[in-house]
Amino acid sequence: MRILVLGGGGREHAIVVKLAESVLVTDIHVAPGNGGTAGIAKNISLDVEDGDAVAGYALANDVGLVVIGPEAPLVAGVADVVREAGIPVFGPGASGARLEGSKSFSKELMARHGLPAGFSSAFTDLEEALGYLGEVSAPIVIKADGLAAGKGVTVAMDVHTAREAIKECFEGRFGEAGNTVLVEEFLTGPECSLLAFTDGITVVPMAPAQDHKRAYENDEGPNTGGMGVYSPVPIVTDAEYDAMLDVMERTVAGLRSEGIDYRGVLYGGFILTDEGPKLLEFNARFGDPETQVVLPRLDGDLAEIMLACAEQRLADVDLAWKPEWAVSVVIASGGYPGEYKTGKMILGVERAAVIPGVTVYHAGTTLSADGTLLTAGGRVLNVTALGASFAEARQRAYDAVDCITWESMFFRTDIGAKAQRGRDAWKD
Ligand code: GLY
Repeated sequence: MRILVLGGGGREHAIVVKLAESVLVTDIHVAPGNGGTAGIAKNISLDVEDGDAVAGYALANDVGLVVIGPEAPLVAGVADVVREAGIPVFGPGASGARLEGSKSFSKELMARHGLPAGFSSAFTDLEEALGYLGEVSAPIVIKADGLAAGKGVTVAMDVHTAREAIKECFEGRFGEAGNTVLVEEFLTGPECSLLAFTDGITVVPMAPAQDHKRAYENDEGPNTGGMGVYSPVPIVTDAEYDAMLDVMERTVAGLRSEGIDYRGVLYGGFILTDEGPKLLEFNARFGDPETQVVLPRLDGDLAEIMLACAEQRLADVDLAWKPEWAVSVVIASGGYPGEYKTGKMILGVERAAVIPGVTVYHAGTTLSADGTLLTAGGRVLNVTALGASFAEARQRAYDAVDCITWESMFFRTDIGAKAQRGRDAWKD
């Protein structure tokens, strides 16, 4: 079977690496792919948000499964068009992708189905939003309702920052995505991502993972798409895991009860509060960089699992999780998540990749005409290591990072460090 993967980040490189292990897969096409996928798949040029273009390419090229990585094509309804053309798709249609495409829809769904979450109010009027802010004060979270490339969330520790964030949304910083603004409770506790495969009926959880969203050491600095991640998450208790899984199962059942046929990955972003896990957000896709630690630990055939989700027979598929630990460190371009330069020559990836347990996933890279590996994005590489213990996986990941260099790269040196100190580290 030929598979077409949409997307070009570290998540898609990790998906392609895992799909390539499958005996069901003959070859993989990726649109647009990156410098890493180029070595194991065919990178193609295609408008991934145009459902007709994707379905047309899949039909013309005998594609047996389309896998949609990023949120934008999901929200644009690409899965609906491809499914309509008779091609199996891994990824929800537009109605399911609203869980990520509209934060207010997501919050309303949580409320309708009694799912645990912080308080939240949505506003389409600046003065009303500011009036509400005056009542609830700070710390508080301000969110643009729609997709904003991971930049639409402000964790405001004071009222001034919250006011500015609300104003920026209404002044059009995020275009139409900011026409509705959510003012949400600031929840305290460790974050935990629980992703699940689902075919709309059966829910199969993946191993939990913990992302590091802030740009700098000690969880300081601006929010990013994620600067590093590890799996499993040792600070999660069995009771918390069961509570998160219950939320995921009730969400899929809730979607089904509302006539939404959701096939793909459901991503639950949780905060482990003193009152139990509470939902921060849903995403309608694999997390990035969570995928880069979860899929290496998957003991199963990803192509078989994805096809089973697409064809609504996930209950028939077996999968398990390897006992190894995984740690992934993001190496980014200097300046990210703000302005940064691209086109810098990357050295040392081959040397890093021969360290036992290490895989270097490419997130924002490209190959020049002469085959030189260049930076092409903010998050550039995800250096992932498996190890027999948390400490070994961490050590291997950072040994590999030390092999890699380019002008003005940066990374966090504390990925996983807090969790190694235990749950009390979040009380410091
Ligand atoms: N790691 C956060 C996300 O994928 O949205």
